[in-house]
Formats: sequence, C-alpha cells, structure tokens
Amino acid sequence: MNRTALIQVLGAVAYGEWKAYEGAQARVRQAASEEERKAYRKVAAEELRHHKGFRARLEALGADPERAMRPYRASLDRYHAGEAGSPIEEAVWSYLGEGVADDLLEWLRKVVDADTAAFIDTVIADEEEHEAMATAELRSLLSGARERQEAGRAAQRMALHMLDSGRATPLPFAAFVRLGRPLDLIGAILGGHLRRMRAIGVGPMGLPVPAVVARAF
Ligand SMILES: [Fe+2]
Ligand SMILES: [Fe+2]
Repeated sequence: MNRTALIQVLGAVAYGEWKAYEGAQARVRQAASEEERKAYRKVAAEELRHHKGFRARLEALGADPERAMRPYRASLDRYHAGEAGSPIEEAVWSYLGEGVADDLLEWLRKVVDADTAAFIDTVIADEEEHEAMATAELRSLLSGARERQEAGRAAQRMALHMLDSGRATPLPFAAFVRLGRPLDLIGAILGGHLRRMRAIGVGPMGLPVPAVVARAF
C-alpha cells in the first residue's frame, strides 16, 4: 500500500469529518424543535468521534494529523462556506453530501489496512443513519414537480460549487487515485449520485459531474 497516499487521504477524510462536526453543531443551534436539536446533537457527537478516530489512525501510522489535514483545509473550508439559497437547496446539499461521504468510505475501506477498515465500518454505520435522516428531510420538502425541479437545480449548483472549491488545490486530491482502485471510486461516486437523484424523482439532467471528477482527481 502507498503509505504517503494513505496518510493524505486519511488527512482529507479527518478534516472532512471535522467540517461535518461543525455543520452538525450549526444545525443544533438552528434547530426549530427540541427533537431536532437532540437529533443533531447526536450527529455532532458522532462526527466528532469520526474525526478523532481518523486522527488516531493517522497517529498510529506515525503521521502528524495536523500536517496531514492542512492541504485540504482551503478547499473544504470553501466548500462548506457555501450558502444554500433555500430550504430545498440546503436539504439537497446535505442529502448528496452525506451520500458522497458514504460512497467514499465504502471505497476507502477496501483499500486500507485491516485496523483502519474496522474503524471505517463503525463510521459507515453512523453515516448510514445520517444519510437516512437527510433523505427523510429532503423527501418531506419534495411535494410536487416544481419542488423536484428546484432540487435538480440545487444539485447542479452543488456540483458546480464542489468543482469551484476544489479548483484551488487539485493536486492533493490525486492521492485518492494513487491509493488504489480509482475506477471503483469514480464509479461509486457517479453511480451513487445518479442513484440518489433518481431516488428523489429527479432524472439525470446533464449534471456537470464528470467535469467535477476530472478536475478533482
Ligand atoms: Fe462522519
Ligand atoms: Fe455524517
């Protein structure tokens, strides 16, 4: 296994988990009900556990977590600073965001060492719940054709925003490809995206996803 690539990818994922933790905390603050607050508090605690776990894996590999995360900060900060323009857009972004995280982890567990894979399995179990929550939230907002159209546009903006955020630092993302099974990774992310769009009744509309993948990797 390519140790340098593994450290880079774990650095990216560790920082992604930190951003997920920050996002969940923001949802706790904005929660409209006590029930919602409780649900997002649980998500925040889980994201923090993921972040700490990936840091611990980096340390076990003899790497400095801060150093490993640094190259990904600018892109991920920019990506997460994006403001959704409507409740539907916000729901689409978290639905697809949780989904991409799941697809990425499913690929990652196949290309890492056994200890890291065992930890990732516990993360996937949590993320599946997060994705189910995001799916239910989005579904509750998609009552008709007009809403589904808005969801389609929101997905398109999300892909463009992702592309734009990664543009400044495309190089560190090459580590994902070097780690192994790049076609599995691209297939999982593209396939997952189309499957999720279909699941909410939005057909493929020529999303600029291949361009995103091409630039990011
Ligand atoms: Fe997570
Ligand atoms: Fe999550």
